[in-house]
Amino acid sequence: MNKETKNNYNLFFSKIYDFIFFPFLHPIRKKIAAEVKNNNPQNLIDMCCGTANQIKYLKKSVNTNIVGIDISDNMLSVASKKTKTNICLKQDASNTNFPDNFFDVAILSFILHETQPEIAYKISNEAKRIVKNSGKIYLTDYVFDKKTNFLGKAGTYFVEFLVGGQHYKNFKTYIKNNLLKNYTTDLQFVSESKYIFGAIRVFTFINNKN
Ligand SMILES: C[S@@+](CC[C@H](N)C(=O)[O-])C[C@H]1O[C@@H](n2cnc3c(N)ncnc32)[C@H](O)[C@@H]1O
Repeated sequence: MNKETKNNYNLFFSKIYDFIFFPFLHPIRKKIAAEVKNNNPQNLIDMCCGTANQIKYLKKSVNTNIVGIDISDNMLSVASKKTKTNICLKQDASNTNFPDNFFDVAILSFILHETQPEIAYKISNEAKRIVKNSGKIYLTDYVFDKKTNFLGKAGTYFVEFLVGGQHYKNFKTYIKNNLLKNYTTDLQFVSESKYIFGAIRVFTFINNKN
């Protein structure tokens, strides 16, 4: 388990996370819940689920078996208050204990920009391993390109700067090297939605293992 991410979220930040990010995250949570509902999967994993905020939206709209995993005790303690059953487990998303092809769907939101690239590679590869062939991967993260306007970029830099430390360094490396492309090259693109002046994208991919 890598120490950098394990200790990144203190209890205070974990407790206010949903509140401060609600205006930005609400439409994204709704979008992903609607996509999952259309897809009607049997089982789903939210990798790096944080406070289980996305899981809360999913629980309202689908009957899918859901599991969340996260590495942070503080985020998980907030998550456990939100979910009646213990569906959020402490696991390292770069090395989970689920078998190959176990899930129909994986959700990966706001994780790949914040870890060191080698960990992000492992997490994305782990998602591809545990999701079935032709299963879906919903990936949400920052993208800066021609469709991102100045306000989106400035706002994102500001938020990530406030979070600071290694997290901010990892974010800058991710943006500078356009790393999301590297993590998703072997996935089949289905769709992309833009949020926050184009700075945040929700992607649907098919896990094409052939
Ligand atoms: C920015 S938060 C996003 C949380 C959630 N996905 C959301 O959309 O709100 C990133 C989360 O990833 C978790 N995390 C970071 N590295 C991880 C790892 N290797 N395994 C599991 N969780 C990890 C952190 O503890 C944190 O809860």
